[in-house]
Amino acid sequence: MRFAEREITLKDGRTCILKPNSPEYAEQMIKYLKETAGETAFLLRYPDEINFTLEKEQEILGGILENPYAIMMVAIVDGRVAGNCAVNGIGGQRRIQHRCSMAIALYKEFWGLGIGSAMIAYMIELAREAGWKQMDLEVVAENEQAYRVYKKCGFIDTGRRHNALKFDDGTYHDEILMYKDL
Ligand SMILES: CC(C)(COP(=O)(O)OP(=O)(O)OC[C@H]1O[C@@H](n2cnc3c(N)ncnc32)[C@H](O)[C@@H]1OP(=O)(O)O)[C@@H](O)C(=O)NCCC(=O)NCCS
Repeated sequence: MRFAEREITLKDGRTCILKPNSPEYAEQMIKYLKETAGETAFLLRYPDEINFTLEKEQEILGGILENPYAIMMVAIVDGRVAGNCAVNGIGGQRRIQHRCSMAIALYKEFWGLGIGSAMIAYMIELAREAGWKQMDLEVVAENEQAYRVYKKCGFIDTGRRHNALKFDDGTYHDEILMYKDL
């Protein structure tokens, strides 16, 4: 989905641009996906599970840009990708067609500057405009920072998925399920 760029001022005074992700960022995105996967245990993939080729990533980003129901927003600080946030439908069947889900991650050096809260607030506006009725997400139970941001953005707990994740060290982790009416 294409949408208007938005400029925000970060807690450290820098400027950040929120804009549609697009094929021009494909190379940076592959690096971002690998590096952010290694910076936190709270994302789905391990770095070795990121195997997109440049061509594939360009194709994916181009497809999302032209899809009126899929939203992918990149945050740019000092000319480089600081983070990304995505909203996608959860499935095509009519009974679940009202629901989308959201995912977000920033490079660690950009945590705590207000980017996450601003991206989510803008994504909520855009998802509403696109016609989505409910936004769902899952957050690892120990991920206090993300949980706090989601609460601040109006998400409500709706349950807990027991042992949703098994880490390579053998430990199991629950996910908290959250939703927001749009
Ligand atoms: C979760 C994430 C997107 C949040 O974005 P962000 O830009 O860091 O968030 P913001 O700066 O907008 O807000 C951070 C809030 O968390 C609070 N916070 C920071 N560290 C915290 C901690 N350890 N525990 C609880 N709250 C914390 C801050 O005080 C701030 O709250 P406030 O605005 O009320 O002061 C980002 O930290 C991130 O990418 N994390 C790694 C990937 C991830 O966990 N993604 C979510 C998967 S579900």
